[in-house]
Amino acid sequence: MTRVLIAGGATGIGAAAALAFLEQGAEVTVCDLNAEGLSALEDKARDLPGRIATKVLDLSLMSSPAEAVAFAVAQQGGIDCLFVNAGLLLSADLADWSEEMWQRSIAVNLSLPMFLTQAALPYLKASENASVIFTSSTGALRGHAGMPGYHATKSGVLGLVRALADELGPEDIRVNALLPGWVDTPFNDTFWDHQSDPAEARRKIDAGIPMRRHGTAAELAGTVLYLASDAARYVSGTQLVVDGGYTAV
Ligand SMILES: NC(=O)c1ccc[n+]([C@@H]2O[C@H](COP(=O)([O-])OP(=O)(O)OC[C@H]3O[C@@H](n4cnc5c(N)ncnc54)[C@H](O)[C@@H]3O)[C@@H](O)[C@H]2O)c1
Repeated sequence: MTRVLIAGGATGIGAAAALAFLEQGAEVTVCDLNAEGLSALEDKARDLPGRIATKVLDLSLMSSPAEAVAFAVAQQGGIDCLFVNAGLLLSADLADWSEEMWQRSIAVNLSLPMFLTQAALPYLKASENASVIFTSSTGALRGHAGMPGYHATKSGVLGLVRALADELGPEDIRVNALLPGWVDTPFNDTFWDHQSDPAEARRKIDAGIPMRRHGTAAELAGTVLYLASDAARYVSGTQLVVDGGYTAV
């Protein structure tokens, strides 16, 4: 049975992945700072075959990786899949960016995947099919005004994937990045707020996506399950774009 730790999964892609793992009978631990979202997720999970445990945790704190891993291991005895999915999108004109905004972006988007993997390492080494998945973004391949912290850190995640895939490959631990395109979740609210005409901005973005729409969180979950599965036993150090064709054109 797959034992999963999801960092950032009260809503959106992380929650959809948690439900998809639970449908397969997995043991899933979800850490997130959104207490209300976590209890709604537990409600949705009630009739599914797997088992869920949740913990309210601010994953921007340097103490959180050790806490998340200790909690997951106490619940499920180990970790086969580490899905580091929490993200922070801050938008402001360059002149208004503070050091605090910049450091917060780095803490959630870049330090968390690094130090959570470090904390989980003994358990990943003990797993029969260890898979580490970081949620990057097609924002690692493109850029938008007002979001330097997001684009810089999500690009940094791709370098982190390559370095960790090289270091952990000999231990049979696979490390990969998921790059979602535009997905309908609360996540992009700060982006829309930064646009002078949010509805028009969204219409233009959708018009530029070959599939002409945003994706749903559930449409991202399958790729997470794939990367954690036996089917992906030889997939490591790579980036999987799931974006309806957005970055192909
Ligand atoms: N939605 C999109 O269009 C899109 C596109 C590309 C990449 N992504 C990435 O997907 C990931 C998931 O985002 P989503 O779209 O599902 O949005 P979401 O807002 O629904 O999910 C993000 C989750 O991370 C949690 N989180 C954020 N900061 C946290 C912290 N400090 N401590 C604990 N939990 C924290 C939130 O509470 C939330 O549950 C993010 O890394 C995001 O960068 C999203």
